[in-house]
Amino acid sequence: MNDFDSNEFRRVMGAFPTGVVVVTATHGDGAGLAMTVGSFVSVSLDPPLVGFLPTKTSSSWAAIRASGTKFGINVLGNTQEDICRAVARRKTDKLDGFGWTTSPLGNPRLDDAIAFIDCDTESIYDGGDHDIVIGRVHSLETVKNNLPLLFFRGGYGSFRPSSMAVGVGIPAARLAGLDIVRPYLERLSGSLSTEVMAMCRVDEDLVTVASAGNSIRGGRSSRVGRHVPFMPPIGGVFAAFGGPDEEKAWLSSIHDDPDGSAIHSFEQVVERVRETGYAFGIGHEAGAAIELASDSANKAHTSEERRHLMSTINAASHTFNNTDVRRGEDYEFHSATAPIFDKDGDCVFSMTVWGPSSGTMSGADVLATIDKLTRGAEACSAELKRAKGRL
Ligand SMILES: Cc1cc2nc3c(=O)[nH]c(=O)nc-3n(C[C@H](O)[C@H](O)[C@H](O)COP(=O)(O)O)c2cc1C
Repeated sequence: MNDFDSNEFRRVMGAFPTGVVVVTATHGDGAGLAMTVGSFVSVSLDPPLVGFLPTKTSSSWAAIRASGTKFGINVLGNTQEDICRAVARRKTDKLDGFGWTTSPLGNPRLDDAIAFIDCDTESIYDGGDHDIVIGRVHSLETVKNNLPLLFFRGGYGSFRPSSMAVGVGIPAARLAGLDIVRPYLERLSGSLSTEVMAMCRVDEDLVTVASAGNSIRGGRSSRVGRHVPFMPPIGGVFAAFGGPDEEKAWLSSIHDDPDGSAIHSFEQVVERVRETGYAFGIGHEAGAAIELASDSANKAHTSEERRHLMSTINAASHTFNNTDVRRGEDYEFHSATAPIFDKDGDCVFSMTVWGPSSGTMSGADVLATIDKLTRGAEACSAELKRAKGRL
C-alpha cells in the first residue's frame, strides 16, 4: 500500500515543470486531430526517437491512434496558451479557429509553434494507466524563435532567460566569436541591472544574436532573433565602424530626400558616432513605436509590416545621436550601442545597453552607463583579438 493518494501524487509531480506540446494527426476525412501533452520526451538520437505518454482513457489519444501510425509534435510557444487550453478542453473540432498547414507526413503543423517534429509510431508500451508511445522522427524543424510555454503546478508561464543566443541565421564565422561576446553581455547586464544585447549585420538587416538580462518585455518574446532593417537612424555603429561599404549601404537606404539634406545630416551622425565611439537613442515614445513595429514585422513577415517598420524607424530619425549628453540635464534614455571589433579590426558585432522603458535618467547616469558600455565593448574586442589563433 502507498502512503500517498493520487492527489498527493499529482501535487508532487506538478512540481516538475514541463514544456507543452500538441500532438496532432489527421482523420481520414481530413479533419485535424489533436491532444495537449506535457509528457513529451526526446528518447534516442540514433535511431532518432521521441516519446509521449497518453492516458489510456483519453478519447483524443484513441482518435489519434485510430487515424493511423503518423503523428506530429508541435512544441508550443508562450503565445499559445489559448490553443493549449482549447485542445485540452474540447472533445471535437479541436483545431477549429487555429491556423495550421500540413506536414510532409500529413500531420497538422500549427502556425506559431516553436518547433515541429513529424513522426511515425515505432512502438507502444504499457505504462500503467498510460501508454508509452515511441515515435521515429521523420523530419523536424524549429519554426519560430519564440520562448516556450511552460506548465508548472497547474499554471502556465514562460522561460525567463538570464542569457540566450540565437541558433539560426547567423553567419557561421560569427558563431565562435559570439561565445566570447556573451560573458561580456552577462557581466555588463549584471552590473547595470538591465538588458544588454549583441547584434550583427546579416544581409539587409541588423539581427539581435544574443541577449543577457531582462529580455522579456511585458510578456512579449525575447529580442533575440529579431531582424530590423539596417537603415538610419539605427545601426549607426556599423555605418561608422564597418568600413566604407557599410556606410554607403546605410546612407543609400534613405529615400525621399530631394535636396540631400537627410543624407547630409546622417553623414554627420556617422562622423559623430566615429568620434564618440558610440550611438545612442533618446525618447521613449519613438523607441516604443520601433519595438512594437519590429515585433509585428518579425511576426507577420509581410512586406506591408516591413514597410510600416521602415517608416516608423524613419520617423524616429531625430531621436538618435542628435544631442550631446550634459551632466546637469535629464534624458529619456532609451539605448546606447558600441562597436565590437574582431581579430582583423572589423566591426562584427555591436553591444547595446537598454535604458528604463519610462521616466528619465540624469545626464551623469547616462554618461556613466555609456562609459561602462564602451569599456565592456573594448574589453570584449581585446579578447576577440587575443583569441585570433583559436577562432
Ligand atoms: C498542460 C497539459 C499537459 C497534459 N499532458 C498530458 C499528458 O502528458 N498525457 C495525457 O494523457 N494527458 C495530458 N493532458 C490532458 C489531455 O490534454 C486531455 O485534456 C485529456 O486527455 C482529456 O481527455 P480526452 O482526450 O478524453 O478529452 C494534459 C493537459 C494539459 C493542459
